[in-house]
Amino acid sequence: MEDDLSRIDRAFSLAKLAKGTTGPNPSVGAVLWDSKGRLVAEAATSPTGRPHAERRVLESARKRAEGGTMAVTLEPCVAFPGKKSPPCAAAIILSGVERVLVGCPDPNPLVSGKGIHALRRAGIQVDLLDPQGRIADFYAGFGTWVAKKRPRVTLKIALSSDGRANPSPGRRGAITGEAARRFVHELRSTSDAVLVGASTVAIDDPLLTVRDVDGPSPRPLVLAGSRGMPRSRSLWKDPRTVVFASTPPSGVPGHVSVVEVPGVEGRCDLQAVLDRCGAEGIHDLLVEPGPGLLGAFLRSRLWDRLWVLRSPLPQPGGECFDPDGLLPEGAPSQERDLGSDRAFLFERDGSEEEEA
Ligand SMILES: NC(=O)c1ccc[n+]([C@@H]2O[C@H](COP(=O)([O-])OP(=O)(O)OC[C@H]3O[C@@H](n4cnc5c(N)ncnc54)[C@H](OP(=O)(O)O)[C@@H]3O)[C@@H](O)[C@H]2O)c1
Repeated sequence: MEDDLSRIDRAFSLAKLAKGTTGPNPSVGAVLWDSKGRLVAEAATSPTGRPHAERRVLESARKRAEGGTMAVTLEPCVAFPGKKSPPCAAAIILSGVERVLVGCPDPNPLVSGKGIHALRRAGIQVDLLDPQGRIADFYAGFGTWVAKKRPRVTLKIALSSDGRANPSPGRRGAITGEAARRFVHELRSTSDAVLVGASTVAIDDPLLTVRDVDGPSPRPLVLAGSRGMPRSRSLWKDPRTVVFASTPPSGVPGHVSVVEVPGVEGRCDLQAVLDRCGAEGIHDLLVEPGPGLLGAFLRSRLWDRLWVLRSPLPQPGGECFDPDGLLPEGAPSQERDLGSDRAFLFERDGSEEEEA
């Protein structure tokens, strides 16, 4: 029989695999064992968000749910005005499940605590289990989206020891090593979408896929600028790619989706871009900017987390970042060794956003 930790981990693996496909709903994993501890059913939230994972599991388990245990990554939902899905907490109560292991409370204040309370009031044993807070972190983007109607924005930049973002202006080339590359793929695998600027598309021709770790590849998004992009780029082959543009972008083939947003002198309004992402149900956005776009995001204050990946090596010919001292000054909230490189996490509480 699996222990509680393996049970919640199993549900979490399902949630991670469906990440990015379930918007506007969060990706949830649910697993059900019968009263004798035998695995009965497992599922993640359906593509586009409905039916929910718990409902899918209960529908395939039917009578075998009686007396069973369910592990579910997010607190089961309750009814609230305007809600489209039938409430999962009520379905669990009716199914006869005796115990529910919950990864973390729902960050949506309309649900938070209410689902757990409903289950307990019906006599179901509910235990919360979130190893190292990884599940709460997985749903933090959903919390940002509920509160601000925009995704949680994670910026990532690789810098040399002398603060350069590339080997030389206009040239592609890695600043950090293999472990840092794997780390970036991990960040991508827990993001719904990844955004890059037009210069990066032109110079680096990135794929933006997840290759070095398990997990889904996020949806690629491009910010067009005043200069065009080459017609043959790897991202144009991905049918999910979306280009944001404030003026008709040159170089983008006709089959690629272009979303018009307001802008100034060919540059997109970042708030409008994030609003569109929110409307598309994107909860977690990873931005992989070069120095110019990073500066724009930092100045706009439209970001939540910044990962700075520092190489111990200089790049004397490279493009310098932080001429205006834009990088956050306080102590990082996390540090990690990535081979010979080091990663620093800076987080903002978002209270200044309204002033920006
Ligand atoms: N070290 C790293 O982690 C890293 C990551 C990615 C890229 N890079 C490197 O960085 C260099 C490119 O950096 P970059 O910052 O110039 O290019 P970028 O990241 O591609 O972003 C700038 C591009 O986005 C466009 N854009 C649209 N709306 C914008 C807005 N509101 N604010 C700012 N830009 C907006 C710009 O338009 P305009 O054309 O009008 O300027 C420009 O084309 C390349 O050498 C690339 O290899 C390094």
